[in-house]
Amino acid sequence: MAPAIDIGRQARRRLQILNNTQIRATKPFVRWAGGKTKLLPRILPYVPESFEHYHEPFLGGGAVFFAVQGRIQKRAYLADLNVHLVNAWNAMRDCQDELRPLLDEYQAKDSKEYYYEVRAQEPTSQLESAARFLYLNGTSWNHLWRENSKTGAMNTPHGARAFKSFSDEVYEGLATTLSIADIRHEDFRVALDRVQPGDFVYLDPPYLPVYTRPDIEREPTAKFNKYTAQTFELPDLMTLASICEDFTRRGIKWMMSNRDTEGVRDLFSFADIVGFTAHRSLAAQSKREVESHRSPEAIVIGR
Ligand SMILES: C[S@@+](CC[C@H](N)C(=O)[O-])C[C@H]1O[C@@H](n2cnc3c(N)ncnc32)[C@H](O)[C@@H]1O
Repeated sequence: MAPAIDIGRQARRRLQILNNTQIRATKPFVRWAGGKTKLLPRILPYVPESFEHYHEPFLGGGAVFFAVQGRIQKRAYLADLNVHLVNAWNAMRDCQDELRPLLDEYQAKDSKEYYYEVRAQEPTSQLESAARFLYLNGTSWNHLWRENSKTGAMNTPHGARAFKSFSDEVYEGLATTLSIADIRHEDFRVALDRVQPGDFVYLDPPYLPVYTRPDIEREPTAKFNKYTAQTFELPDLMTLASICEDFTRRGIKWMMSNRDTEGVRDLFSFADIVGFTAHRSLAAQSKREVESHRSPEAIVIGR
């Protein structure tokens, strides 16, 4: 009898594609502040059944992308301004064979002390940077990736949890799902230039910590919005609103998640808005500010 041959993971993947039995990833491999996994039942009913390209320019963990992948006819254009996050997504798509042993090593060495050692290091290659990102994301407090606004250094404390690498099934599912994705480190203004009629756009910008319209009271919120050294401010949301208005004029379908505030309703008055209450446990800046409260959420839908 011929000896069993290990054909390798990439060959197995090709074989699966030939057999049309690909495993698909159904959930994010990165845990991200503001992630939409829990809100999917609210969001998905407003996503069209089918569209050509899918655009998600505030990607984070991409909860909505994973949930709607079956509706995408052509490609997914995914983007985020956090360079470390985007690098990890690309490594997960393109370099799994190299990434995997690095993550296994992190799992073997994992401890609180090791976390702080790794956090202080500066990786020398994109691959090392991706593995370090996934390790810190898996073990940081509340899975938060918070950057110092001056140095850009990641500064979240340890989260008192063990690091677990990914299973074969997760790696294979991600390879299949991400094969349709173009994933870029870029600002939403650049990413949204690519949108064409027939496409669908899902937007999940950082929520504004306070809405600074002079004629209404400042909202008493100080939620987490430091995903990158550069924060998302009111002028950014205003630009996004005018891009969305242009989409509507061109007949392009889009939707946005945001906090339900008078300011957001004003800026997006040309769209349909559905409000509901979400129960959130993570959105704070530090250990002392853990929030567990009801927050008013809006789904803004282009007409
Ligand atoms: C609320 S999170 C998205 C969460 C995501 N929907 C999920 O399910 O995980 C917002 C994201 O926008 C990104 N971001 C902030 N400013 C940006 C900008 N100007 N252009 C593109 N992305 C930006 C942040 O890095 C962050 O990942």
